[in-house]
Amino acid sequence: MHTLTLNSGLKIPAIGFGTYKATYNSIMAALDEGYRYFDTASFYGNESEIAEALTHSGIKREDVLIASKVWKSEMGYDNTINAFAKTLENLKSDYVDVYLIHWPRPNLELDDWKSSDLETWRAMEHLYSQGKIRALGLSNFLPYHAENIFSRCEIMPSVAQFEFHPGYLQFPALNYYRQKGIQVQAWSPMGRGRVLDDILIRELAMKYHVTPPQVCLRFCLHENVMPLPKASSRERMRENLACVNFSLDDEDISRIESMPPIGWSGEHPDRERVKI
Ligand SMILES: NC(=O)c1ccc[n+]([C@@H]2O[C@H](COP(=O)([O-])OP(=O)(O)OC[C@H]3O[C@@H](n4cnc5c(N)ncnc54)[C@H](OP(=O)(O)O)[C@@H]3O)[C@@H](O)[C@H]2O)c1
Repeated sequence: MHTLTLNSGLKIPAIGFGTYKATYNSIMAALDEGYRYFDTASFYGNESEIAEALTHSGIKREDVLIASKVWKSEMGYDNTINAFAKTLENLKSDYVDVYLIHWPRPNLELDDWKSSDLETWRAMEHLYSQGKIRALGLSNFLPYHAENIFSRCEIMPSVAQFEFHPGYLQFPALNYYRQKGIQVQAWSPMGRGRVLDDILIRELAMKYHVTPPQVCLRFCLHENVMPLPKASSRERMRENLACVNFSLDDEDISRIESMPPIGWSGEHPDRERVKI
């Protein structure tokens, strides 16, 4: 598979596997289908299943990349060090490839979220300098949240992950991270299914003789955004990886870029979840 090189020098596959609500069996199947980057988080509660599937697959640890995230309740210097130790224990590994802050605000009541983020980041830098993390990342950070990290960090983030799919592109964040040379990753690259019935996505799927999920994922690749699709069946896993086998022309990319908003999850770092 085509690879991307992060600013830390780490090479990662251009498509990852999302593991929110993924089971041991689906992770086993994803390994067998060729996925080599797994996006998990302490919050997902399945780090141990990933370790178990990897052990049983016979694939070497160094041939797979695992990303995990420090959860809201685990932020702060000491908490992060402890949360990371637990993640390593779950993963039965002595390192994590990519480690991200899951959300910039531990809760909406905390006024001094900036200090909380900086302390968390300082702990991650410490773990990075010990060789326990190969690249650091931010998840759900809008540009102004990230500016706080940039104001003090010694090690630059390599990855920024946020909701990104046709109908919800977050161009201000996308352009901000692009300018800084930070790799963007798309969570819910198919809007968790909410964009697959869109009229334009369906029209383009017909035109290119592909499926709506493949249009969404190919669009991510075109934007140099790494998609993290989650799927439960082998057929879907294969279908999603096969998005590399065609390309969208410039006019169609432009049509997707300017389609009406659709499929937003309702999640925003500075708000209670908005019911859609
Ligand atoms: N950083 C964050 O805060 C954050 C938030 C959300 C998600 N994420 C990450 O991003 C990953 C992906 O996001 P997501 O799971 O929300 O959404 P997604 O990958 O956009 O969509 C997954 C949904 O689409 C279905 N699907 C997958 N492939 C399909 C296909 N070829 N045809 C039809 N339906 C298909 C899946 O169904 P089945 O499973 O039934 O196959 C599942 O319901 C997560 O797993 C997680 O790793 C991160």
